[in-house]
Amino acid sequence: MNVYLNGEFLPLDQARVPVLDRGFVFGDGVYEMVPVYDRHPFRLDEHLRRLQASLDAIRLANPYPVETWRERALQLIASQAFADQSLYIQVTRGVAPRDHAFPPGAVPTVFMMAQPLVTARPEQKAAGVCAITAPDVRWLRCNIKAVSLLANVLARQQAVDVGCAETILLRDGFLTEGAASNIFVVRNGVLLTPPPSHLMLTGITYDVVLELAAANGIAHEVREISEAEVRAADELWMTSSTKEIMAIVQLDGQPVGSGVPGPLAQRMDALYQSFKQQVMRA
Ligand code: PDD
Repeated sequence: MNVYLNGEFLPLDQARVPVLDRGFVFGDGVYEMVPVYDRHPFRLDEHLRRLQASLDAIRLANPYPVETWRERALQLIASQAFADQSLYIQVTRGVAPRDHAFPPGAVPTVFMMAQPLVTARPEQKAAGVCAITAPDVRWLRCNIKAVSLLANVLARQQAVDVGCAETILLRDGFLTEGAASNIFVVRNGVLLTPPPSHLMLTGITYDVVLELAAANGIAHEVREISEAEVRAADELWMTSSTKEIMAIVQLDGQPVGSGVPGPLAQRMDALYQSFKQQVMRA
């Protein structure tokens, strides 16, 4: 597998970053994960805009103009042997003697890799997955796609420890998001999801789902959702670039709705799949 590091394309096992990189020492960096279908990056412009927003939030100048990002990403994608990929992009504040304050003159480290895309198997989609809940103990700038993901790592592992796919995070009695996904709730035929804020990452998939709901006359509300509403959901979904739309059929050991993926999840998944196809053909 080829990767991109600071202007060079090279095999993964030859890519090296100095140990004093601030990504390694402080988790001082941001990232993106772009799904690539048949060598077409999905919503690349939107991912690059979110990358810019994350860079702005951590006060790190974007090392490249959008056109350079696009060219190099496409070059990396083209160089892989497989067509469906997950393109990972990471920018850190660079290599410098360890000191919390920004290092003057450090050059950002830019890393990209394109791994084989692992989406849900059809039988997994058909069955749905289980999830647990946990308090959202993260900081108050969860809208930044930061590489310092320790709280998310610990939350996600809590789910894996009990054989589940995701941990749904609750802060002050309200739904925020999943450890690595956004969460949608269906109640009485209405699709609900929390509004973008500093308490969650606004997913690219989240935006697509809301666009598809609007375009297809699916009743939806973007508003705060209480824990009680999550627990009384007819359907629960997690969404992300790699999981797409995945029905959660059990929460904390209790069935969600009828305990199988609901009709709206199936409809949205079909809309999402055909939207992907259209975008790929365009
Ligand atoms: N994570 N919220 C969090 C905390 C996430 O980590 C992710 C995705 C999302 C969904 O965002 P999107 O739809 O743009 O993928 C929401 C990626 C997949 C990751 O960290 O690998």
